[in-house]
Amino acid sequence: MVFHLLKKWFSFSDVKNKTSRMARLSLAMLRREYFGKPLLEEYLGDDPFELFDAWFEDAAREIKDDPNAMILSTSGKEGQPSSRTVLLKGYTREGFVFFTNYQSRKGKQISFNPRVSLLFYWPGLVRQVIVEGVAEKIAEEESETYFKSRPAGSQISAIASPQSDVVDSRAELEERARFIEQQTSESEIKRPAHWGGYLVRPHRIEFWQGRINRLHDRICYQRKGDEKKWKRVRLAP
Ligand SMILES: Cc1cc2nc3c(=O)[nH]c(=O)nc-3n(C[C@H](O)[C@H](O)[C@H](O)COP(=O)(O)O)c2cc1C
Repeated sequence: MVFHLLKKWFSFSDVKNKTSRMARLSLAMLRREYFGKPLLEEYLGDDPFELFDAWFEDAAREIKDDPNAMILSTSGKEGQPSSRTVLLKGYTREGFVFFTNYQSRKGKQISFNPRVSLLFYWPGLVRQVIVEGVAEKIAEEESETYFKSRPAGSQISAIASPQSDVVDSRAELEERARFIEQQTSESEIKRPAHWGGYLVRPHRIEFWQGRINRLHDRICYQRKGDEKKWKRVRLAP
C-alpha cells in the first residue's frame, strides 16, 4: 500500500516537474518584435501633456477595452510598494484623476505617503507612459458630481463594499447591497464621505515607445517643486 502510494506520488511529482519545465521553456520563447512609430525630439514640444493628448487619443481609438486603465502604485508605512488597476476619469495640465474608497488599502497608504506612480501600458501601440507625482483629494463637489453620474448599481456597491477589508463571504456583500437597495430610492442614494477622487500632480512623465531590435525610444519630462517648465531628456532603453 505504502509502496503504491509512493509510486503514485513520484510519478505525479515527475509530471509536475516536466510541466513547469515546459512552461518555463515556452515562456522564454514568448517574444515579439516591436514595430512602433519613432518618438523623435524634432516632433516634440516642451509640454508632456501635448504628447499625452496625442497618445491617449491613439489609445482611445485603437484599444477596445479600458484604454483608460492604469496601474496605480503606492507605498505605506512599511515602504512596501503595492499596485492595482484603476481607471483614469479625467486629466488636465494639473494632473490625472481617479476615484476610489479613501479608506481602502491604497487610500490609507496615500494618506501616509502621497507619492504615487501611475502606469499605462497600451500593448497594441507598444507604448507605455509612467507618471510619478503626488496625490491629493479632489474637491468634494467634484466627487459628488462624478458619483451622481455613475449607474445606481455602482453607487450602491460603493456604499456596500468596505473596500480592502476582509469579508466573510460573497453572500454577505450581496446582502449588504440588497439592504441598501431596499432602504433607499435611486434619487436618495448619497455618496459616502469616504468615497471620492484623487488628483495626481505629476513631476515626472516618461513616454516609452517600443522599437525594432529592442532599441526603444524613451523620452522623459521632469520638473522640480513648483516649477512650471518641464525639462525633457532622452533615456537609454
Ligand atoms: C480594469 C479595472 C479597473 C478598476 N478600476 C478601479 C477604480 O477606478 N477605482 C478603484 O478603487 N478600483 C478599481 N479597480 C479595482 C482595483 O484594482 C483594486 O482591486 C481595488 O481598488 C482595491 O485596491 P486596494 O485594496 O489596493 O486599495 C479596478 C480593477 C480593474 C481590473
